Amino acid sequence: MPPTIPIAKPYFSEAQRRVILDGIGQILASGRVMLGPFAERLERDFAAHTGTRHAVSVSSCTTALQICLEFLGARGGEVLVPAAAFTTDVSVARWGGAKPVLVDIDPATLAFDPDDLERKVTPRTKGLIWVHLTGLISPRWREIVDFARRRNLFLIEDCAHAHGASAQGRRAGSIGDAGCYSFFATKLVTSGAGGMIATSNPALDRFAREMRLFGRSAETGEVVREGNDWFLDEFRACVAHAQVQELDAMIARRQAVARRYETALANQPGITRLDVPAGFGHAYYQYPVFLDPRLPVGEIAKALGTNHGVQAKAIYKPVHREAIFRAYDDGTLKEAERMLDRSLCLPMHPAITDAEADAAAAALVAEVRRHW
Ligand SMILES: Cc1ncc(COP(=O)(O)O)c(C=O)c1O
Repeated sequence: MPPTIPIAKPYFSEAQRRVILDGIGQILASGRVMLGPFAERLERDFAAHTGTRHAVSVSSCTTALQICLEFLGARGGEVLVPAAAFTTDVSVARWGGAKPVLVDIDPATLAFDPDDLERKVTPRTKGLIWVHLTGLISPRWREIVDFARRRNLFLIEDCAHAHGASAQGRRAGSIGDAGCYSFFATKLVTSGAGGMIATSNPALDRFAREMRLFGRSAETGEVVREGNDWFLDEFRACVAHAQVQELDAMIARRQAVARRYETALANQPGITRLDVPAGFGHAYYQYPVFLDPRLPVGEIAKALGTNHGVQAKAIYKPVHREAIFRAYDDGTLKEAERMLDRSLCLPMHPAITDAEADAAAAALVAEVRRHW
């Protein structure tokens, strides 16, 4: 039986669809298919939403990270990356001529463990890629920022899960030197594929604009860097712009679904959830629960699909468990392993109905009880 409640699904309201179809018509009529008014509007509104002075649209979060690492001077040094991250957080460091150094996570925040940052930093460390995993900015964010600032390290926020997330009044992407976002199909804002760099550094803004268009200077037209065609075309900018107009409403719906899950799963034996302190706006890209280590998480995930039509899966594998990155397993990444291995994400997207959320939570409780 195919899952009747998918874990993630792109969402386009009726209003968004009308705006997008109208916009695509305008692009076709004008013939301006790249770096035109839609990219400009998207960047303006994205920067305003994030609280940064600039935003540069690009082809993916991965390219956004590549551009930022090059600008911030990672080459030749080490970059601290959490073991609970996406695979390209590691790849970008390698492509950028740096050595990725994996850091364990704090199980309460799913982000860098500040104590392990202290253990892993060396005189060669150039900076950090800080992942707001599942859409939560670490409640210990000030410790992470202080760690970077004290040592003069760059701090890139990987906001692929965290469009619109906030920590004590600061939006994801406005805390470090730059925020990198993904518009991949499952993300909080999607244009099929795409990404964004948000920053208040005008030199990074300029560098990113050159890098995304073959390294060409906007003033002279000369090729001044080895760039690529990493810009976001007008069609995708039009779709992403319509999504950004409704980002707050889409996050509010995700938060309402999360509240239903919280109520249904509170005090259920064998199931724990993340604590989100007051003052933190979780964007809920994913809604993870963590099963007791005695429970067979793989079997329960499978049973949710076959018995209830509820799609559920782990947040990610720890990156050092991916075949290509096994050499980065130094035996210290225990909390990342422990938390990710027993994580299970329930369906989360703006179109989920209250009844579907209640059914998914009830299915999880029933399957856990079978083994408890
Ligand atoms: C945390 C994180 N960073 C980066 C990426 C890469 O995003 P993109 O596909 O836009 O390059 C992803 C994609 O899933 C991700 O989850």
